Formats: sequence, structure tokens, C-alpha cells
Amino acid sequence: MPVQNKDDGGWKKFLWNSETRELLGRTGGSWAKILLFYVIFYGCLAGIFIGTIQAMLLTLSNYKPTWQDRIAPPGLTHSPRSDKSELTFSVNDVETYLKYTKSMKEFVDAYNEEKQRDQMKFEDCGEQPDEYKHRGDLESEIGVRKACRFSRSLLGPCSGVEDKDFGFSDGKPCLIVKLNRIVNFRPKPPQSNESIPEDAQHKVQPNVIPLYCHNKREEDEGKLGEVRYYGIGGGFPLQYYPYYGKLLHPQYLQPLVAIQFVNITMNYELRIECKVFGENIQYSDKDRYQGRFDIKITVNNY
Ligand SMILES: *[C@@H]1O[C@H](CO)[C@@H](O)[C@H](O)[C@H]1NC(C)=O
Ligand SMILES: *[C@@H]1O[C@H](CO)[C@@H](O)[C@H](O)[C@H]1NC(C)=O
Repeated sequence: MPVQNKDDGGWKKFLWNSETRELLGRTGGSWAKILLFYVIFYGCLAGIFIGTIQAMLLTLSNYKPTWQDRIAPPGLTHSPRSDKSELTFSVNDVETYLKYTKSMKEFVDAYNEEKQRDQMKFEDCGEQPDEYKHRGDLESEIGVRKACRFSRSLLGPCSGVEDKDFGFSDGKPCLIVKLNRIVNFRPKPPQSNESIPEDAQHKVQPNVIPLYCHNKREEDEGKLGEVRYYGIGGGFPLQYYPYYGKLLHPQYLQPLVAIQFVNITMNYELRIECKVFGENIQYSDKDRYQGRFDIKITVNNY
């Protein structure tokens, strides 16, 4: 019993020793030093943290996504979008292609002429391929830049104006293709026609990023038939670049290319690859839409 008493006394004394005025075995001054140490230590950590964030924010531009340069190769996408890149329809059954033509109509409506009338927001950039249109530096004081007009009528029979079915009802389906926007990116056309596959070489011309579609599988040779290209120069003309970003270029319209398969083999699943060519356009095995896309088209006529 005495032992226990002694222990109790010792524990209490450790908690608060009224003789030496020590709390948990330390004096007030000693506790103050420890507290001061932690305040300084965490204060410094917070300071370093805030400083780093500030420095990072200062190096970021308002307009240009700084790290985007490294992922420059643009995606190539098409309308209608399709599940699993498959487009299957029957010429004789509207129901089978209505979802495609409906989404194309919605897509191309953004290119209606009446939406591009405002002279303060749009300008004509010519209907022939031309050089890059520089509209001042990204960081300059100019502010919002004008956009080049792009009328859907440039897409000819694929514009949806005269043929509301975009060729689907005739078994000559259209696809509308665009290169995804990248701020401040200037796509460079192939320097010579030798640098690209032989079949696509005739498409090389100044100031255009050529687009070329062909059958993906060798055994499908001859089954694709003639492919027609509509737009400016049958590709992506340079006067639509660079794009200045959402803030500075709110009205920007990407140039479009319409592709029409006018003699595609019926009742056959055909794998088609479309590709753009340029000095700074790359392809990736991981991203199937980088600079190219693949689509399976089956046009049935029963
Ligand atoms: C490739 O370019 C050369 C000269 O630049 C030209 O003579 C030739 O006809 C071109 N070939 C094709 C297939 O367009
Ligand atoms: C369409 O393709 C077939 C072969 O699939 C060919 O015999 C025919 O000549 C082509 N028609 C045109 C107008 O090119």
C-alpha cells in the first residue's frame, strides 16, 4: 500500500509540480521555447509553400497554356461521331442514319453564314489557301482578335444545305473533319511530297495541311472507291492559324474538310483511315485520334 501511495504522489507531481512550478516535467520557459520552435518551423514551411506557388503563378501566362507546347500534335476528329468508330446504316432506312445526319446538322449549324455577319468579330480570309494570319502577340494589348469566316457552303454537297441527308440516302456518305484547337499552334505542311506516302503526294500544295483517306486493310484495295474532299484546298488552310485561345479568340471557327465516299462498296464492312500530314504533326499508338482516325463504314442497300 505505501508503495502505491508513493507512486500516486509521483505521478501528480509530474503533472504539476507546485514546488518547482514545472508542468509535465518542464518549466513555463522551457514550454515557451518549444512552442516558439514549432511556430517558426511551421511558419517557414508555410512560407516556402506560398512562395513556390506564387513563383509558379507568375510564370504562367493568362492566355497561353504553358505546358501545352509539349502535347502539340493535334487530334483529328469527325462528325458524325460514332460508337466504337463504327458507322453502319442502310440507304433505304432513314431510321438507321438519322442519328448521324442529325448530329452533322447540329455540328455544321455553327458555320451558318448569318452567324458570321458581325464585321467587328469576323473577317474574310479568302477561299484559297494562304499563309498564317498573325494577329499580334498573345500577350499584347490588342485584346480580342477577329476570326476568319468559314461558310458551310464551302463543303459543297456535304454542307447539308441542299442535301439534308449529307449523302447518306444516296449511299454516298459524308464525314466532316476538323483538327482540334491548340492555342498558338502553327501546323507546318509537309516540306516535300516525298516525305509522305505515295498515294497522298498529289495532295501536297503550299499553305495547306493535307488530309488523305484510304483503305486501312490491304485486302480492301479498290473497295473504297473515289473519295472527294471539300473545303479550302481539300485540307486545313494555314490562314486559320494560329488560334489565340478562348479568351482572345472567342468567335474562332476551325476550318473544316468534308470527305465524301462517292463509290464505296455496299454491304461490306470497310476500314478507312484518314490522316493529316505535316512537319509537326505526329501520330501515336496510344492516342488513336492524334493526327489520324480510323473508322469502319458499312453501307447496306437492302
Ligand atoms: C512532287 O514534287 C515534285 C516537285 O516538287 C513534282 O515535280 C512532282 O510532280 C510531285 N509529285 C506528285 C505526285 O505530286
Ligand atoms: C465504282 O466502283 C466500281 C468497283 O467497285 C467500279 O467498277 C466503277 O467503275 C466505279 N464507278 C466510278 C464512277 O468510278
